[in-house]
Amino acid sequence: MTAIAQAFSRYLPPKVVTNDDLSKLMETSDEWIQKRTGIKERRFVEAPTTTSDLAVEAAKGTLEQLEGKPVDAIIAATLSPDFDFPGIGVLVQTKLGLPEIPAFDIRNQCSGFLYSLELAKALVLQKQYERILVVGAEVHSTGIDLTSRGRDIAVLFGDGAGTCVVSAEEHASSRIPALRLLQSEMHSDGAHASKLWCQHIGSAHFPTRVTQELLDEAKCFPTMEGKKVFEHAVKRMVEVSHSVLAKEGIPASKVRLVVPHQANLRINTMVGDALGVPGDRLFNTIERYGNTTAATIPIGLSHALMEVPLHPEDYILSCAFGSGFTWGATLMQVV
Ligand code: ACO
Repeated sequence: MTAIAQAFSRYLPPKVVTNDDLSKLMETSDEWIQKRTGIKERRFVEAPTTTSDLAVEAAKGTLEQLEGKPVDAIIAATLSPDFDFPGIGVLVQTKLGLPEIPAFDIRNQCSGFLYSLELAKALVLQKQYERILVVGAEVHSTGIDLTSRGRDIAVLFGDGAGTCVVSAEEHASSRIPALRLLQSEMHSDGAHASKLWCQHIGSAHFPTRVTQELLDEAKCFPTMEGKKVFEHAVKRMVEVSHSVLAKEGIPASKVRLVVPHQANLRINTMVGDALGVPGDRLFNTIERYGNTTAATIPIGLSHALMEVPLHPEDYILSCAFGSGFTWGATLMQVV
């Protein structure tokens, strides 16, 4: 028995924020952002929409494709929960009106969706659960420094959500193609935690988690050593992609489509070049959505599965790298 991920769905908030819009808030330009990152625009929520609201909208599209088949667990990945606690899993459960099923919260940033698939696959193959709703959702727009001080990070991120359902089945019932979950590999190296993090709010601060000093120093916003993160991202995504392909015993030339995490178009081009995958087999969404962290890969897969002509048995590879550091790759096959 294999595990499949099916009924992919996405939700992007309607408000489009262009690079020119950001140029009105900080010292940046459309030219700089496009040249260095590939991003043209991203979506931002408007009050009172929260991360769990985005997740719920995406999940409705997933559940609708299941035609009444129930889900019996939720795994939700985000770095931008509605509240410090509880996580968004329980909020998704209640807002969707689901019964009292377990809701797991995953905190692995840009790798969060692949980590969630990893966990969901193991749980359904163990027959612990039958059908798991897997969620990646983020609201970055209210957590970034939209002034010149934060421009290196602020221009990168956008809001959105993507969802699917993982089950141990041979055949899918969903409207759009499903993906068989083949080889996968996840990694972490916390020695690099401070290269991309948000220090505030946390139990590392005394006497209280929220201090005026940290707020004054703008440590409530993420900080990043961009160049170091960039180098590690390329190296690790290539390494882990090679590893999962080797486990399956196929060369990269057999992969129909790579749907990578979207942090920077230059990162993805370099990963594609190193794997020997040309641009027309690299599926990017960064131009229109920026980096939506845990939501990025399910959003990308929902687009790719609907828009790219695919055939049963086609291989699809997703790889991700992000804060932690965490990284991973999952090899899938169209059902
Ligand atoms: N607009 C204009 N100028 C800018 C901006 C901006 N938005 N941001 C930085 N600059 C300036 C810098 O101040 C610097 O100026 P200086 O030369 O006068 O000092 C210059 O542009 C070059 O800055 P660099 O940081 O060297 O630019 P780089 O080419 O490295 O691009 C970037 C920066 C886009 C952040 C890149 O390093 C990157 O993409 N890093 C990886 C991001 C990533 O992978 N994140 C992981 C996932 S996120 C997650 O897990 C939550």
